[in-house]
Amino acid sequence: MAAMAPLARNVLVTGSNRGIGLELVRQLVESPNPPEHVFATCRDLDGPRGKALQELAAKYSPVRLVQLDAVSLASVQAAVKEVETQLNGKGLNLLINNAGVNSQATLQSAQQEEMLSVFTTNVVGPIQVVKEFLPLLKKAALEAGKDGLSCSKAAIINISSKVGSIELCVKILKAPMYSYCASKAALNMVTRCMAEELKDAGILCTAIHPGWVKTDMGTEKAPLTVECSVQGILNVLASLSQATTGVFLDWEGKSLPW
Ligand SMILES: NC(=O)c1ccc[n+]([C@@H]2O[C@H](COP(=O)([O-])OP(=O)(O)OC[C@H]3O[C@@H](n4cnc5c(N)ncnc54)[C@H](OP(=O)(O)O)[C@@H]3O)[C@@H](O)[C@H]2O)c1
Repeated sequence: MAAMAPLARNVLVTGSNRGIGLELVRQLVESPNPPEHVFATCRDLDGPRGKALQELAAKYSPVRLVQLDAVSLASVQAAVKEVETQLNGKGLNLLINNAGVNSQATLQSAQQEEMLSVFTTNVVGPIQVVKEFLPLLKKAALEAGKDGLSCSKAAIINISSKVGSIELCVKILKAPMYSYCASKAALNMVTRCMAEELKDAGILCTAIHPGWVKTDMGTEKAPLTVECSVQGILNVLASLSQATTGVFLDWEGKSLPW
């Protein structure tokens, strides 16, 4: 019997030292058909927060640790160089923009500096990362030599949030978190634009809401374990196609309004 193909041959995850990012790397490399490379990136590899990722890399050879601070252009460009060298002429199939920061700021408490910082991480970061990795994504799309769109060919996944939905936000939150909600709404817009712009280059682009997840960001109050959320996300990613580029889905594959 032929072995099943991996979700994608070469994958990169931002913010992969803890929470959803770390679990994405773990489940990808522990799958029966792991990718050839999982570029597990984070901004501080050597600090205490990088320990779990270091342990994962020591155990699984597809894990390649790469320093990447999504808001630093120099750091992103250095990461591109390193990934390109390790890919040795191949393209990057799947880029998961997972890194993000939360903010509880309400209309009363929002401060300019904090608002700009959230926007820089959650919106400017993913745009910058895509812009710099685009040649490697285009290379993957070209080398796939097949029609259609999929995560195994070339794809960008933006980890967004339901509270970034203009329709749903007011129904979910009593006191909107202005910076966080607006940043994820902007990331959704970025996803729509990228999907439209990159589909002819063979690159899929989809926004995913991971659910309310027990992580540092989601807190212990969240109903969903990180294992369960990530298992769902990876199932959804495997199902994406031309029909689901430029859409907003949750971790179970349910369609969400922008
Ligand atoms: N948890 C939830 O309930 C929930 C719900 C909806 C959406 N989300 C989204 O899911 C994603 C992951 O969330 P999470 O719950 O796993 O959060 P988390 O536990 O707080 O982890 C956030 C990750 O993002 C990284 N990060 C932040 N700024 C970065 C930067 N400039 N460059 C690189 N990495 C950076 C953090 O790295 P450091 O360790 O260096 O800080 C950390 O690895 C986020 O985009 C979040 O908005 C989460």
